[in-house]
Amino acid sequence: MSNLITRTTELAMSVTLTYIKPGDTVVDATCGTGQDTVVLARAVGSEGSVYAFDIQRNAHLLTEARLKTHGISNVHLIMKSFVSMSEHIPERSAAAVVFNLGYLPGGDHSITTTADTTVEGLECALRTIRPGGIVTVVMYDGHNEGAEEKASVLEWAEALDQRRYHVAYVSLLNQKNHPPEILWITKKA
Ligand SMILES: C[S@@+](CC[C@H](N)C(=O)[O-])C[C@H]1O[C@@H](n2cnc3c(N)ncnc32)[C@H](O)[C@@H]1O
Repeated sequence: MSNLITRTTELAMSVTLTYIKPGDTVVDATCGTGQDTVVLARAVGSEGSVYAFDIQRNAHLLTEARLKTHGISNVHLIMKSFVSMSEHIPERSAAAVVFNLGYLPGGDHSITTTADTTVEGLECALRTIRPGGIVTVVMYDGHNEGAEEKASVLEWAEALDQRRYHVAYVSLLNQKNHPPEILWITKKA
Protein backbone atom coordinates (compact mmCIF):
# COMPACT_ATOMS: atom_id res chain seq x y z
CA MET A 1 0.00 0.00 0.00
CA SER A 2 1.37 3.46 -0.88
CA ASN A 3 2.28 5.91 1.88
CA LEU A 4 -0.44 8.51 1.41
CA ILE A 5 0.45 10.59 4.49
CA THR A 6 3.70 11.66 2.83
CA ARG A 7 1.87 12.95 -0.27
CA THR A 8 -0.44 15.60 1.10
CA THR A 9 -2.03 16.76 -2.14
CA GLU A 10 -2.99 13.18 -3.01
CA LEU A 11 -4.30 12.64 0.50
CA ALA A 12 -6.44 15.79 0.15
CA MET A 13 -7.86 14.60 -3.16
CA SER A 14 -8.41 10.99 -2.10
CA VAL A 15 -10.63 12.06 0.80
CA THR A 16 -12.43 14.58 -1.44
CA LEU A 17 -13.21 11.87 -3.99
CA THR A 18 -15.17 9.90 -1.39
CA TYR A 19 -17.70 12.78 -1.37
CA ILE A 20 -18.16 12.75 -5.17
CA LYS A 21 -20.20 10.44 -7.38
CA PRO A 22 -20.82 10.28 -11.15
CA GLY A 23 -23.22 13.00 -12.32
CA ASP A 24 -22.22 15.48 -9.58
CA THR A 25 -21.29 19.13 -9.99
CA VAL A 26 -17.93 20.07 -8.46
CA VAL A 27 -15.71 23.15 -8.43
CA ASP A 28 -11.96 23.49 -8.92
CA ALA A 29 -11.51 26.97 -7.43
CA THR A 30 -7.88 27.35 -8.60
CA CYS A 31 -7.30 25.20 -11.69
CA GLY A 32 -3.63 26.20 -12.28
CA THR A 33 -2.12 23.53 -14.53
CA GLY A 34 -5.34 21.51 -14.53
CA GLN A 35 -4.10 18.43 -12.68
CA ASP A 36 -6.88 18.53 -10.09
CA THR A 37 -9.41 19.48 -12.77
CA VAL A 38 -8.71 16.24 -14.65
CA VAL A 39 -9.12 14.12 -11.52
CA LEU A 40 -12.39 15.85 -10.65
CA ALA A 41 -13.70 15.62 -14.22
CA ARG A 42 -13.07 11.87 -14.25
CA ALA A 43 -14.79 11.45 -10.89
CA VAL A 44 -18.03 13.15 -12.00
CA GLY A 45 -17.97 11.49 -15.43
CA SER A 46 -19.67 12.62 -18.62
CA GLU A 47 -23.01 13.21 -16.83
CA GLY A 48 -21.42 15.55 -14.30
CA SER A 49 -19.62 18.87 -14.58
CA VAL A 50 -16.61 20.70 -13.22
CA TYR A 51 -16.50 24.49 -12.91
CA ALA A 52 -12.83 25.47 -12.99
CA PHE A 53 -11.73 28.99 -12.01
CA ASP A 54 -8.41 30.79 -12.30
CA ILE A 55 -7.50 34.44 -12.74
CA GLN A 56 -4.52 33.74 -15.03
CA ARG A 57 -4.79 33.26 -18.75
CA ASN A 58 -1.74 31.04 -18.63
CA ALA A 59 -3.47 28.69 -16.18
CA HIS A 60 -6.42 28.47 -18.53
CA LEU A 61 -4.22 27.63 -21.49
CA LEU A 62 -2.43 24.92 -19.49
CA THR A 63 -5.69 23.45 -18.20
CA GLU A 64 -7.32 23.57 -21.63
CA ALA A 65 -4.35 21.73 -23.14
CA ARG A 66 -4.39 19.08 -20.41
CA LEU A 67 -8.13 18.51 -20.81
CA LYS A 68 -7.69 18.13 -24.54
CA THR A 69 -4.88 15.60 -24.06
CA HIS A 70 -7.15 13.53 -21.83
CA GLY A 71 -10.21 13.92 -24.08
CA ILE A 72 -12.23 15.60 -21.31
CA SER A 73 -15.19 17.82 -22.24
CA ASN A 74 -17.27 18.18 -19.05
CA VAL A 75 -15.36 21.22 -17.70
CA HIS A 76 -16.50 24.86 -17.74
CA LEU A 77 -13.33 26.97 -17.63
CA ILE A 78 -13.99 30.38 -16.11
CA MET A 79 -11.29 33.06 -16.19
CA LYS A 80 -12.43 34.82 -13.05
CA SER A 81 -11.72 34.81 -9.35
CA PHE A 82 -13.27 32.09 -7.23
CA VAL A 83 -15.16 34.84 -5.39
CA SER A 84 -17.51 34.94 -8.40
CA MET A 85 -18.47 31.27 -7.87
CA SER A 86 -22.05 32.11 -6.89
CA GLU A 87 -22.65 33.81 -10.28
CA HIS A 88 -22.03 30.49 -12.04
CA ILE A 89 -23.19 27.71 -9.73
CA PRO A 90 -26.45 27.59 -7.73
CA GLU A 91 -26.20 27.57 -3.96
CA ARG A 92 -26.23 24.19 -2.18
CA SER A 93 -25.63 22.28 -5.43
CA ALA A 94 -21.95 21.21 -5.54
CA ALA A 95 -20.61 17.99 -4.05
CA ALA A 96 -17.16 19.51 -3.56
CA VAL A 97 -15.16 22.71 -3.95
CA VAL A 98 -11.38 22.30 -4.10
CA PHE A 99 -8.85 25.09 -3.42
CA ASN A 100 -5.14 24.59 -4.04
CA LEU A 101 -3.74 27.87 -2.77
CA GLY A 102 -0.61 29.81 -3.74
CA TYR A 103 0.89 30.52 -7.14
CA LEU A 104 0.99 28.67 -10.44
CA PRO A 105 3.83 26.10 -10.38
CA GLY A 106 6.52 27.39 -12.75
CA GLY A 107 4.58 30.65 -13.21
CA ASP A 108 4.64 34.22 -11.90
CA HIS A 109 4.97 33.97 -8.10
CA SER A 110 3.49 37.43 -7.62
CA ILE A 111 0.11 36.17 -8.85
CA THR A 112 -0.99 34.24 -5.80
CA THR A 113 -4.06 33.66 -3.70
CA THR A 114 -4.29 36.13 -0.79
CA ALA A 115 -5.72 36.00 2.73
CA ASP A 116 -8.68 38.32 2.09
CA THR A 117 -9.87 36.89 -1.21
CA THR A 118 -9.35 33.32 -0.05
CA VAL A 119 -11.52 33.76 3.02
CA GLU A 120 -14.15 35.44 0.85
CA GLY A 121 -13.88 32.54 -1.63
CA LEU A 122 -14.28 30.01 1.17
CA GLU A 123 -17.46 31.76 2.30
CA CYS A 124 -18.76 31.42 -1.28
CA ALA A 125 -17.73 27.75 -1.30
CA LEU A 126 -19.70 27.01 1.87
CA ARG A 127 -22.78 28.48 0.21
CA THR A 128 -22.12 26.49 -2.97
CA ILE A 129 -21.74 23.00 -1.49
CA ARG A 130 -24.81 20.93 -0.83
CA PRO A 131 -25.49 19.47 2.62
CA GLY A 132 -23.08 16.55 2.99
CA GLY A 133 -20.65 18.22 0.56
CA ILE A 134 -17.00 19.09 1.19
CA VAL A 135 -14.66 22.05 0.79
CA THR A 136 -11.02 21.03 0.50
CA VAL A 137 -8.16 23.51 0.91
CA VAL A 138 -4.48 22.72 0.29
CA MET A 139 -2.34 25.44 1.88
CA TYR A 140 1.35 26.33 1.58
CA ASP A 141 3.04 28.42 4.27
CA GLY A 142 6.57 28.39 2.82
CA HIS A 143 6.19 31.91 1.36
CA ASN A 144 5.18 35.11 3.20
CA GLU A 145 1.81 35.57 1.54
CA GLY A 146 1.04 31.88 2.13
CA ALA A 147 1.87 32.00 5.84
CA GLU A 148 -0.40 35.01 6.33
CA GLU A 149 -3.11 33.37 4.25
CA LYS A 150 -2.94 30.11 6.22
CA ALA A 151 -3.25 31.97 9.53
CA SER A 152 -6.37 33.80 8.29
CA VAL A 153 -7.93 30.64 6.86
CA LEU A 154 -7.38 28.67 10.08
CA GLU A 155 -8.74 31.50 12.23
CA TRP A 156 -11.83 31.69 10.01
CA ALA A 157 -12.31 27.90 9.95
CA GLU A 158 -11.92 27.49 13.70
CA ALA A 159 -14.80 29.90 14.24
CA LEU A 160 -17.28 28.04 12.00
CA ASP A 161 -20.47 27.00 13.77
CA GLN A 162 -20.02 23.39 14.94
CA ARG A 163 -23.76 22.81 14.58
CA ARG A 164 -23.44 23.34 10.80
CA TYR A 165 -19.92 22.22 9.88
CA HIS A 166 -17.20 19.73 10.71
CA VAL A 167 -13.67 21.05 10.16
CA ALA A 168 -10.52 18.90 9.98
CA TYR A 169 -6.94 20.12 9.65
CA VAL A 170 -3.88 18.05 8.69
CA SER A 171 -0.30 19.20 9.25
CA LEU A 172 2.87 17.11 8.96
CA LEU A 173 4.08 18.27 12.36
CA ASN A 174 7.74 17.19 12.25
CA GLN A 175 8.52 18.19 8.64
CA LYS A 176 10.67 21.33 8.40
CA ASN A 177 10.38 22.13 4.69
CA HIS A 178 6.83 23.48 4.71
CA PRO A 179 4.94 20.62 3.05
CA PRO A 180 1.36 21.50 2.11
CA GLU A 181 -1.31 21.32 4.79
CA ILE A 182 -4.95 20.33 4.36
CA LEU A 183 -8.21 21.73 5.62
CA TRP A 184 -11.50 19.92 5.02
CA ILE A 185 -14.90 21.37 5.84
CA THR A 186 -18.13 19.41 5.47
CA LYS A 187 -21.60 20.86 5.70
CA LYS A 188 -23.87 18.83 7.91
CA ALA A 189 -26.78 17.20 6.13
C1 LIG B 1 -1.14 26.27 -6.62
S1 LIG B 1 -1.91 26.86 -8.07
C2 LIG B 1 -3.16 25.65 -8.37
C3 LIG B 1 -2.62 24.34 -8.85
C4 LIG B 1 -3.68 23.46 -9.51
N1 LIG B 1 -4.62 22.91 -8.56
C5 LIG B 1 -3.08 22.35 -10.35
O1 LIG B 1 -3.60 21.21 -10.30
O2 LIG B 1 -2.13 22.63 -11.09
C6 LIG B 1 -2.84 28.24 -7.52
C7 LIG B 1 -3.59 28.96 -8.63
O3 LIG B 1 -4.50 29.88 -8.03
C8 LIG B 1 -4.71 30.92 -8.95
N2 LIG B 1 -5.38 32.03 -8.28
C9 LIG B 1 -4.85 33.03 -7.53
N3 LIG B 1 -5.82 33.84 -7.05
C10 LIG B 1 -7.01 33.34 -7.52
C11 LIG B 1 -8.37 33.74 -7.39
N4 LIG B 1 -8.73 34.80 -6.65
N5 LIG B 1 -9.33 33.00 -8.04
C12 LIG B 1 -8.98 31.90 -8.78
N6 LIG B 1 -7.70 31.49 -8.94
C13 LIG B 1 -6.72 32.19 -8.31
C14 LIG B 1 -3.32 31.20 -9.48
O4 LIG B 1 -3.38 31.89 -10.69
C15 LIG B 1 -2.73 29.78 -9.58
O5 LIG B 1 -2.85 29.28 -10.89
